[in-house]
Amino acid sequence: MGHPGIAGKVAIVTGSGGGIGEAYARALVAEGAKVVIAEIDEQKGRAVADSISGDGGDALFVRTDVSSEESTQAMAAAAIERFGGIDFLVNNAALFGGMKTESMLQVDWDYYKKFMDINMDGALLCARACYGSMSQRGGGSIVNQSSTAAWMGVGYYGLAKYGINGLTHCLARELGRMNIRVNAIAPGPTDTEALAAQTPKAFMDQMVAQIPISRLGRPKDMADACLWLLSDASAWVSGQLLAVDGGQIIRG
Ligand SMILES: NC(=O)c1ccc[n+]([C@@H]2O[C@H](COP(=O)([O-])OP(=O)(O)OC[C@H]3O[C@@H](n4cnc5c(N)ncnc54)[C@H](O)[C@@H]3O)[C@@H](O)[C@H]2O)c1
Repeated sequence: MGHPGIAGKVAIVTGSGGGIGEAYARALVAEGAKVVIAEIDEQKGRAVADSISGDGGDALFVRTDVSSEESTQAMAAAAIERFGGIDFLVNNAALFGGMKTESMLQVDWDYYKKFMDINMDGALLCARACYGSMSQRGGGSIVNQSSTAAWMGVGYYGLAKYGINGLTHCLARELGRMNIRVNAIAPGPTDTEALAAQTPKAFMDQMVAQIPISRLGRPKDMADACLWLLSDASAWVSGQLLAVDGGQIIRG
């Protein structure tokens, strides 16, 4: 506990059936928030929600496909029906673990379109579904999950995250007048099952060796940043991209 303005609030965390999203959901519950586990993988999402509820937390699983307008609208409606409204949205869902890593020029076009639908436009669809309730409650906070890959020019994964950065800027402008703040976290390589499945160990070791704080990120590193961005401690922070990466990317 200790982050002002989080206890009692209602948060939706997309892609929270494991990895960093699960850490976000659990950190929010530990601060006294009520959490919607909005996840496409029913088994994983339900297991996280049941585990949080079993520990005495308030969690609701809603099977959600962030690339579907109908599904994101249903996600928001379920949150409002169960908890009375929405205060926070964490747009964490993405194709990451097990994603194809082909070149921009050769990747199958249908896969590329689906990838961008989920990894970039999904965050916009979720924001469109949630902002009305946030506005009715006097404001809110949205955190988008970017990546340091956005600044590395690495294929469609990096491009989608670059889009997330731009979306963060645009939504911060559009939603500010409703007292809704919009920021992004850009994690460096973070120790999750998805990263391990996605990245050969030798490559990972090489990457870590070049990071000033020379280790992998931990989901808790991301959760600490997310709590701060959602809380009243960052009440006048909006439109910002916060790298949480041990100094992997140092920009002017
Ligand atoms: N782990 C890292 O090194 C790292 C670094 C930078 C950014 N990120 C980003 O952090 C986020 C979480 O990464 P992670 O390592 O926990 O990976 P992960 O694969 O465990 O998390 C992604 C989650 O999103 C869910 N998902 C996929 N498609 C969905 C859809 N259409 N609708 C709803 N949910 C869907 C997946 O089932 C999964 O639970 C992702 O946005 C990823 O791009 C991760």
